[in-house]
Amino acid sequence: MYELYPYFTNDGSVGLFSPDADDIYHSTYGALTEAYEKFILPANINEFLKKNSEIKILDICFGIGYNTKSFLNNVLDFLYNETRDTNKIIYNDKLYTDNKKLNIFIHAIDNDKNVALLSPFFISNKHNIKNNKLMFKHAKIQKMLSKKITQKYALKKEVNILLFEKMINLIDEEIIKILSEKKYRLFFDNYFTSLVPFLKNNIYKSNPIIYFKGFLHNIYYKNISSGYKKAQKVLKLLDFNFTLDIDDARHAIINDNEIYNYVFLDAFTPVKCPCLWTVDFFKLLYDHLNNDGMILTYSNSAQVRNAFLNAGFYVGKIFSESAGKFTGTVAVKNKSLIKHELSEYDLGLIKTRAGIFYRDRNLKLDNEAIIEAHKKEVASSNLISSSKFIKSYKNK
Ligand SMILES: C[S@@+](CC[C@H](N)C(=O)[O-])C[C@H]1O[C@@H](n2cnc3c(N)ncnc32)[C@H](O)[C@@H]1O
Repeated sequence: MYELYPYFTNDGSVGLFSPDADDIYHSTYGALTEAYEKFILPANINEFLKKNSEIKILDICFGIGYNTKSFLNNVLDFLYNETRDTNKIIYNDKLYTDNKKLNIFIHAIDNDKNVALLSPFFISNKHNIKNNKLMFKHAKIQKMLSKKITQKYALKKEVNILLFEKMINLIDEEIIKILSEKKYRLFFDNYFTSLVPFLKNNIYKSNPIIYFKGFLHNIYYKNISSGYKKAQKVLKLLDFNFTLDIDDARHAIINDNEIYNYVFLDAFTPVKCPCLWTVDFFKLLYDHLNNDGMILTYSNSAQVRNAFLNAGFYVGKIFSESAGKFTGTVAVKNKSLIKHELSEYDLGLIKTRAGIFYRDRNLKLDNEAIIEAHKKEVASSNLISSSKFIKSYKNK
């Protein structure tokens, strides 16, 4: 049976636990905060938008879409700010009109259809903070949730509406069943779940899509403050191209011809989902990255960094100002884009057994086979162990 284990993370956004993967989808520290701090801020998207009128994003492991949503939220903020003092949409030193737009392409991939299609329904509001508790007791998550609550980033409702519009054709009986379940009610947005009966009973047989779009427009209009009325214009600019692939990310990318400016790699941890952390998968990503593009990931692991290096990338670190520490890795083709270089310690660690990466030459192996082959390679390696290296490094 399909089971979801939602919980409220410390910033009020919903997180999920997967019993199958035995892993959390989102840091209990804050699902939305994490998306901003590990993907959006280090990508320096605003600087990019100032110079370009087209942006292409590859969101690997879309899940419930926090990375895509935070990206869209950031673009909306950027455009609102750009247009604050004028009635015109001036952008990139040009006057933007209906036929001159900021072109946004988002290719999202996840192999779990239910989770991805439910993404616009999950709420992410400040008031959730008071519900900061686990609904379905999972000792694992409860231990991780702290009492310290923060709400730094807020997701605009429009972002979910925009995604909902893109996905409405894909929503099927299974999703409607999940949305109607009482135990999940707390986690879903009433506005969206109230649309479910319409879908279920198929009242508007004649043209449901047009009806819903009209309905959504009204919801949207009710929710924007007067200062944001011209957001309508901004939203027109945001008539983005969104493709959701329900597929294994390897397969979806092999069949993709696009070149991306940013790749968000948000797979489960390497030991849980090795197929998306192999040197061969990274080589595939290399072919899909713009020369000035950037791959961002939350992983700090030596083997992930080594796999990126061996796939031909320059590798750097992500520094979180708020956490005051390094919280991830970037891989680029243009070295000058790296803000925080790998340290002598990081490079040393890469040369130990901890730096031995996963392989998947034909991009077809299952996770167990990748782990098995990796174990053998580590066992027969002459490299020093990471613990030995760390000890000798500390004694230097
Ligand atoms: C850590 S979660 C991603 C969270 C997500 N970025 C979000 O904002 O909700 C990992 C995701 O990887 C997906 N996944 C696992 N194996 C995959 C594969 N081989 N290809 C594509 N997606 C995969 C899972 O379904 C899950 O949604």
